[in-house]
This record gives sequence, structure tokens and C-alpha cells, in this order.
Amino acid sequence: MKGPKKAGPQVIDPALSPPIYVPIGMALAGVLGLLVLQALVIAKAPMIFGPFRFNPAALAAVHLFTLGFATSVMIGAFHQITPVMMRGRPVEGGWALLQGLAYLAGSWALVWGFYRSAGPWITAGGTLVVLALVVFAALVVRAMRSATQWTVAGRFMAAALSFVLGTVIWGLVLAFNLRRGFLPDSLDYSPLGAHVLLGLGGWFMLTVFGVSYQLFPMFALTNRPSAASGHAVLAKLSAGLWGAFASLLLHLPALTAACLLLAAAGAARYAADFFAMMRQRRRPELDLSMRYGVTALAFLVPAALLLLLSVRHRAFAVPGAWLFLFGFVATMILGMLYRIIPFLFWHHLMRNRRSKTQRLPKLDEMFAQRTARAGYFCWTAGVLLTGLLLLGGALGWWDARYLVRGSAILNLTGSLLFAGTILQVLRARPLDGRERSMG
Ligand code: HEM
Repeated sequence: MKGPKKAGPQVIDPALSPPIYVPIGMALAGVLGLLVLQALVIAKAPMIFGPFRFNPAALAAVHLFTLGFATSVMIGAFHQITPVMMRGRPVEGGWALLQGLAYLAGSWALVWGFYRSAGPWITAGGTLVVLALVVFAALVVRAMRSATQWTVAGRFMAAALSFVLGTVIWGLVLAFNLRRGFLPDSLDYSPLGAHVLLGLGGWFMLTVFGVSYQLFPMFALTNRPSAASGHAVLAKLSAGLWGAFASLLLHLPALTAACLLLAAAGAARYAADFFAMMRQRRRPELDLSMRYGVTALAFLVPAALLLLLSVRHRAFAVPGAWLFLFGFVATMILGMLYRIIPFLFWHHLMRNRRSKTQRLPKLDEMFAQRTARAGYFCWTAGVLLTGLLLLGGALGWWDARYLVRGSAILNLTGSLLFAGTILQVLRARPLDGRERSMG
């Protein structure tokens, strides 16, 4: 039988995997968050893309993205990937379910609280998110402690856990500060910058870099960079980002700049590893998942530059954050899901088929390739166009807040096509013994 061998990302091993509803349930919850967010962006663009500080619509949209979409998917992916990749104990389904539900309830309550400027919802939702993520980290660390194989990616993921906890705990402090105002200067951007740095740099970027060290060589049939290089990237990024967090809170601008330079050196070394992987690949054509991955990394470059520029010129924070979140993080996640969900579901069908004569569809047959490609183009065009419109707005060329409503429709279309093809995967069934495969 033609199985998913050619794509084997070594993240699926039935003996070490959690129950399938853990990764797929969290991924579906995340995709729902992304769809709601797109609708919110179209409905409330003029409010969301206005001045970003203490802006309820912007806070709701940002946290619907970071918590409702991206972190939801990543929680499921951590439970799936870490025990298999590191040969550790899988998470128990009951615990993962409990933690996932508490997390989702907390995130949506927090988003609602931000949207309605409702203090009790913000603090209650934020507290639930923090507690659920502490349990999440404990469950992943438990799998890691029984690991017999420490990979570069595993070390990145362990470090990323410290960053997500730092982000949400400090976020909760900021949330209480919104109500009580105990931080001395409400116009000071440093506490907010510290929260954003840990979340975007430490949680999202570090996880993506780490996972790509594991998956890109398998997806693109290329050589894996040396472990020493991966460890150097991790050391520079971790030290730089934690250092910048502390020095921002202590108001030490020279030290903050030095730490950010160290983190930038880590990112530059990662870029060198990435280009080496791409140059040496033995599969020249990029499949859909890799195409999303490469596009995501291409968006990271202008995003990081704009976010750095925003330290001096605040207006660049909006296009920078857009390109970072939608261009880099979301594009990468959508690409990875195109690889992982069909894979997981194929194994599920394999385990549950009634007899050995039942054929399974090939991975490529589990969803309509053309629709998926159309989704990729709509998504990428939407991200790019919205990014350019927001950049023009930051430069004072036009009022982007109304214009982006149009380009965001492209994004919504892209995510609907993505969601449709993922649902198609989940409806795939074993073919009858006599039925010929479509391939
Ligand atoms: C992965 C997790 C998270 C990420 C990546 C993240 C990211 C961000 C970003 C980008 C902003 C700036 C948005 C703006 O000013 O319009 C922000 C602001 C904020 N976040 Fe989060 N966030 C996360 C989790 C949380 C959690 C769990 C809480 C609360 C418990 C929280 C509380 C806040 C608060 C209160 C602000 C506004 C702070 C201020 O302006 O002084 N965040 N966050």
C-alpha cells in the first residue's frame, strides 16, 4: 500500500502519540479562532487598525490571534510532536483534554473581556489561561523528562515553554495593571514591549525555528544543519530575548539594544542554516506545505525590520505586527497543518480499517489540491496587500484603516479554502477493496 512514507515527518508513532482528538481538536479550535478573527478584522478594521495602545478592538484581535488561533494549534502540536520526536511518555488524553478545554475557555473569555473592556472577564480569563498553560508545560516537561533522544528541536521547544509562561504571566500582570494602574507611568511602552518580545520572539519564533530544524530536512529531502549550529542559534536567541526582557523592565536602553543585537545574530545564523538546507535539497519542487513555510520565512524579514523600526517610529508597529503574525506565524502554521493533519488522520484510518483488503487514499488524495493551492494564493496575496496598505498608512500616504477591509477579504477566502480542505481530510474514508484509487 502506498502510505505516507514519502512525507514521513517522524512526528507520528501510534505508540507514543496522544489520542488523535488532542492534536486535531486543538487545531480545529485554532482554525475556528482564525475564521472568527478574519470576520472581526473585516467588520471592525477601522477600530482595530487605529492607534494600538489601550485599544479594545486591537487587544481583542491580537489575543484572538495569539491565543485563540496560534497557541491553540501549538498546544496540540507540542503534545503530538515532543513524545514522538524525543521518544518520551505520551500525554494522557484526559489530562490533555482538561487542560485544552480550560485553556480555550480562558482565552475566549480574555478576548471577550478585551473587546468589551470588561475588567473581571480580562482577569478571570487571563488567570485561567495562565493556569492552563502551567499544566500544559508540566505535561510536556513530563514527556521530556522520560525522553531518551534529545534533538535540537526538542531543546528549542523546551526553551519556548519558558517563553510562553513568561509571556502570559507578565501579560496577567499587565492585565491587573489595566484595572489597578500600579505601574508608575501608563504611557511607558517598556512593559508592553517586554510582553510582546517574549511572546513573538520567544514563543512563536523560537518554536518555528526549532520545529523547522526537525521537519524541513524531511519535507525537502535535504541535509540537517549541524547540532552545534542549532545550539548556537538557540543560545543567542534565548539569552538575547530574556536579556532584552529584563533590561526593558529595568529601563536600561543600551543593554536592551545589545541584547536585541545578540538575538538578531541568532536569527541571522538561523537564516544561514535555512539557506544551506534549501540549497542542498534533493527535491527541487516545493510542495504546498514547504511553499507555505518558505513564504512565512520570507515575511519574517520585513516584519522584523518594521518591528525594530517601531522602537523609534511607533506607526511601523502596526504593519510590522501584521506581517509578523499573519505573514510569518499564521502562514507557517497553515503549512505545517497541511502536512500533519492528513498524516495523523491517515494513521487513524489505518488503525481502524475493518480489514487488510481495505485500501486507504493516498495523502494527496485526501483533499482537493487545486482548492488548497487557490487557498495559498488568496492567503498570501491578502497578507501581502494588507501589509503594503498598512505600511502606506504608517508612512502617511493614505488612511489604511478602511482600505484593508478589501484586502482582508482575500485572507478570509484563503482561510475558508484552507478550512474546507482540512474538513475534506477529516471526511476521508478507507476505499472499498475493489475500488481503485483516484491516483
Ligand atoms: C502567547 C501569548 C500572548 C501573546 C503573543 C501576546 C501578545 C500581545 C501583543 C502583541 C500585545 C500588543 C497589542 C496592542 O497593544 O494592541 C499585547 C498586549 C497586551 N497583552 Fe498580550 N499576549 C499574549 C498573552 C496574554 C495574556 C494571557 C494576557 C493576560 C493574562 C495578556 C495581556 C495583555 C495586556 C494587558 C496587553 C496590553 C498592555 C498595555 O498596553 O499596557 N496577553 N499582547
